[in-house]
Amino acid sequence: MTKCCNECRAHDDRTAKLDEIITRYKDTRGSLIQVLHEAQELYGYLPFEVQVYISKKMDIPLAEIYGVVSFYTAFSIYPKGEYQIKVCIGTACYVKGAGDILDKFRMKLSIDVGECTDDGKFSLDSCRCLGSCGLAPVVMVNGKVYAKVTPDQVDDIIAEYSEQKKGACT
Ligand code: FES
Repeated sequence: MTKCCNECRAHDDRTAKLDEIITRYKDTRGSLIQVLHEAQELYGYLPFEVQVYISKKMDIPLAEIYGVVSFYTAFSIYPKGEYQIKVCIGTACYVKGAGDILDKFRMKLSIDVGECTDDGKFSLDSCRCLGSCGLAPVVMVNGKVYAKVTPDQVDDIIAEYSEQKKGACT
């Protein structure tokens, strides 16, 4: 059957890959986290429909799946932006004002932690220690480290990526 568009083809491809993942782990006890990790790699995040699909196929209650997804910070129920901003709120960064930096990003981007801007350009996450405590407070954007960041620098960091081409959430 001819697919109506590339989006439909991509949807079918991903569903087929998700089926392969589920088939591989279905009979292995305690494999749910591995399935969720691989599903997140496939989709970029774990949309509700994917959680429902895994629940049905693996015969695991949806509440249990949602419980795991919401417990571990490695999982996200929101799409990620083209530019993934991580603000470290580990102890060293927090005592040097990381909370104010996070608040400024939230205000400037009009999103909360874990969310993505409507244009798909930015997503915002907090994390516990990026391993660069001597540079606290630390912000990371797609792997690039910003050291000793102040709230006043938030505008510049956003502007650095805003100039670049428009993105879409993955
Ligand atoms: S606490 Fe932020 S880098 Fe370690």
